[in-house]
Formats: sequence, structure tokens, C-alpha cells
Amino acid sequence: MEKHFAVIGNPIAHSLSPAMHQGGYREMGLEADYLRCEVEPHALPQAVQGLKALGFTGWNVTVPFKEQIIPWLDELTPEALRAGAVNTVKVMEDGRLLGHNTDGKGFVRSIQEELKPEKDMQVVILGAGGAAKGIAMALLPYQVKITLLNRTMERAQQLAELINSRGGRAVAEAWGPGEWLKSAQLIVQTTSLGLKKEKYSFSLEGISPETLVVDIIFNPWETPFLREARERGCRTLNGAGMLLYQGALAWEFWLGGQAPVAGMKKGLLEALPK
Ligand code: ATR
Repeated sequence: MEKHFAVIGNPIAHSLSPAMHQGGYREMGLEADYLRCEVEPHALPQAVQGLKALGFTGWNVTVPFKEQIIPWLDELTPEALRAGAVNTVKVMEDGRLLGHNTDGKGFVRSIQEELKPEKDMQVVILGAGGAAKGIAMALLPYQVKITLLNRTMERAQQLAELINSRGGRAVAEAWGPGEWLKSAQLIVQTTSLGLKKEKYSFSLEGISPETLVVDIIFNPWETPFLREARERGCRTLNGAGMLLYQGALAWEFWLGGQAPVAGMKKGLLEALPK
């Protein structure tokens, strides 16, 4: 029987998830479709009930519903509980809705070929929003040391407190260049700065070329921030890998087995705006 999947969010027109998953269906010869559904914020509970009533196997959740959807689900996985947010929902055999989060592990998988997180590794996260929180929480089990920088310092402090209250090690520092530039082994840029190709707030002068620098933005493919890191000799990754692997993990959560990563990557790359 044909399976149905979707992504819900608002706005959703630019989501690449349908193309990515459809690339996977092609590789596997799976009879399935994946819709892009724009949901008005007031209609979220009806949309959830509608997807369930229509027999969807599962769906992805994006901005602004990752936290708002929680009250409408029956159960959360440990990953969703840890992140306090859901990006993947599965309809279980008995009809109950299980919320999961693959963003954090998707990030970890996306950097794995370049750098394996390990105890005492120096990680710097730029930004303190939902994306920063998801990545920080996924790094918790590796016992890395996290430095958080955010334009609004208070948010960085709050996130550092949350990480520390869960057994992690995090400090907040002022938004700008600092000693952290020399010692960071991994820098993750999670703010929206660069989406419009804007120049970054500060320069990366003094950065160690040993550093792996990741920007979770992938459109534009290389933000000015990432370009500067590359020009200063660092290894760099954009956010396409994180998108790919959060999708692959969602696939495995819904369908079991191993996701067809090559087909999903092909679908994703073909759909990227040129
Ligand atoms: P997300 O869930 O995608 O992380 P968010 O929770 O709205 O989104 O967080 C956006 C992040 O981008 C925040 O860290 C925000 O900084 P503030 O907390 O100070 O708002 C950061 N951000 C957005 N625009 C920025 C800018 N022009 N300069 C620096 N940081 C910016």
C-alpha cells in the first residue's frame, strides 16, 4: 500500500524535504509520497488530526511548530524530551502519535567524517535559539566543553545554565572575537546571520586553521562567515549535511532499516536553488 508522508510548517514553500525523501523513494522503489503542507498556526491541532485520519505514516515538523506540536502528541522519545522540540512524528500501529527529534543526531552524523565529538573537545556555538539548543543537547553525551556566544547575552547564559543543569559543561561569553577563536576545535554557526549573504558581525582573525567550522545555513551554499573560515584555512561544512542526516534518521524512525542516503542526497542536490 502506498505510504504518505509530509512536512508541516509555515512558511513551507521552500522546504527541500519533499525532494530529498522522494529521491529516497526512487532509490528504494518505494511507493510513497511526501507533501509540503502549510498550516495556519491556529489550525495546528486540526492538521495533526487530519494527517492521522488520512492515514499518513508520519510527518516532519518545522518552524514554527517544533515546540507547539508537543501538547497534541501522545508520547515523546528521549531525543524529543531532551531537545524540548519535535521535528518528526510517527503514527504508531495503535494510532498513538510518537514525537521524535532527529536534528541533533543529524548534526552529529553530518560532521562525523571530519571530526568525532569526544570528551573535553572545545566546541563554540554561535547563537542561542532552537537550533543551538538542539545541537548542544545532542553533544551532551560526548562530554564536550561548550562556549556559547549570542548577540543577546542573556539567552546564551540561560542556555548554558540549562546545559549545565543536565550534566554538561557550558559557559556564556560576549558576542565577538575572543580567546575562544584560538582554542576552538569545532565552531557551529546557528544564527540566521548570513541567510541574506550579510557580512558577519565580527571577523575570525586569529582562528586556528585546525578548526572545523560549520554553518547550519545551506542557502546560500557558502555564507560570508563560512567563506572567511575557508579562506583562513579551516575545514568547513554548510548545513546541507545536517538536513540530509536529520532526514535519513527520520526515514529510519518511520520505516526501519537503513535510509537510502545516496538517493536522498541526489534529490536534495537537484532541488537546491542554483
Ligand atoms: P532558531 O530556532 O533557528 O535557532 P531563533 O530561536 O529565532 O531561531 O534564534 C535565532 C538566533 O539567531 C538567535 O541566536 C539570534 O540572536 P538573539 O538571541 O540575540 O536574537 C540570532 N540572530 C538573529 N539575527 C541576528 C543578527 N543580525 N546578529 C546576530 N545574531 C542574530
